[in-house]
Amino acid sequence: MRVFVAGASGAIGTRLVPQLIERGHEVIGSFRSPAGAERVAAHGAEPIVLDLLDPRAVHTAVLAAEPDAIVHQATALADVRFSRKLDRSFAQTNRLRREGTDALLVAAREAGVRRFVAQSFANFRYAREGGPAKSEDDPLDPTPVRGMRETSAAMTYLDEAVTAAGGIALRYGSFYGAPNDGLLEPVRKRQFPIVGSGGGVSSFVHLEDAAAATVLALEHDGPAVYNIVDDEPAPMREWLPVLADALGAESPRRFPGWLARLVAGGAVVMMATDARGAVNAKAKGELGWTLRHPTWRQGFPEAYRRPVPATAATAGKPVRNEEARGASWVH
Ligand SMILES: NC(=O)c1ccc[n+]([C@@H]2O[C@H](COP(=O)([O-])OP(=O)(O)OC[C@H]3O[C@@H](n4cnc5c(N)ncnc54)[C@H](OP(=O)(O)O)[C@@H]3O)[C@@H](O)[C@H]2O)c1
Repeated sequence: MRVFVAGASGAIGTRLVPQLIERGHEVIGSFRSPAGAERVAAHGAEPIVLDLLDPRAVHTAVLAAEPDAIVHQATALADVRFSRKLDRSFAQTNRLRREGTDALLVAAREAGVRRFVAQSFANFRYAREGGPAKSEDDPLDPTPVRGMRETSAAMTYLDEAVTAAGGIALRYGSFYGAPNDGLLEPVRKRQFPIVGSGGGVSSFVHLEDAAAATVLALEHDGPAVYNIVDDEPAPMREWLPVLADALGAESPRRFPGWLARLVAGGAVVMMATDARGAVNAKAKGELGWTLRHPTWRQGFPEAYRRPVPATAATAGKPVRNEEARGASWVH
């Protein structure tokens, strides 16, 4: 297929493009920043500059590219400053999820595009009741906390617009596996504490596994929604110490929930204490997706711990945190 990847230069796009090419697809990859062009070309796609918030440009680009399929992976999260008002931090991404999706869907219809897959999100969205992890059929949170209502609504808008058009929305877990993953610096600096009970559940997915699921989704008939998450949804109090350890950082601090609410806002407290994760049975069953990194428990150390060259003294010994501290990245 000829596949048009909107947002090909981003964290997921740069993993997706090589996997598509390896699978025999031809890829046209869009970017926006000057550095994006090089990243797209380096991974073997035909680069095209495109602002998804310019519907006329989207129309022209898609019709000229004559793709069989479109993948929407555009977000605006690099260098974003997270404040207690998540909706402010996500404002541009929310526009890409609403207006960008609409522009691509209109162009797709006119160009006779057969397959449409778009990036959605699984964490912090399912209703905060019942078990710790939810399937695609479980209800979404009917009352998202203040500060993230627009963000939740934009994701739901994308899910509904894409599936109404016969496409597939992929609710990814939190990405990891890149040297500049957003959580890493705060965790290294001990600025990312376990809040309250730390019982809020998150689902993770390694970027390579997320890309593999996306390739499979493109080859599958819609409409559908899939949770693209690993096998182990887990509360913050479990995954955060493992991440800190993998980074060679000191153990995370603890922070009372009431104080976090004052300092960081209700959304942060909800994520840390009350959120639900997601289960991946549907994606595995229907897409035939298998994970190379089935759980963050092994995935974090594999992604972030520096390999120590084997010597007679170290061969066969696990890498200790002290050795990994201040390490350069594996990838
Ligand atoms: N599920 C998750 O956990 C999740 C989801 C998304 C992102 N993230 C994280 O957020 C961080 C930043 O993500 P990222 O590296 O992918 O960067 P990003 O800034 O979110 O960009 C993603 C892609 O969208 C493109 N883009 C941005 N604005 C656009 C616009 N107006 N029109 C068309 N395309 C546009 C970017 O192009 P340029 O490269 O040219 O700017 C890039 O190709 C990463 O750590 C990533 O893992 C996590």
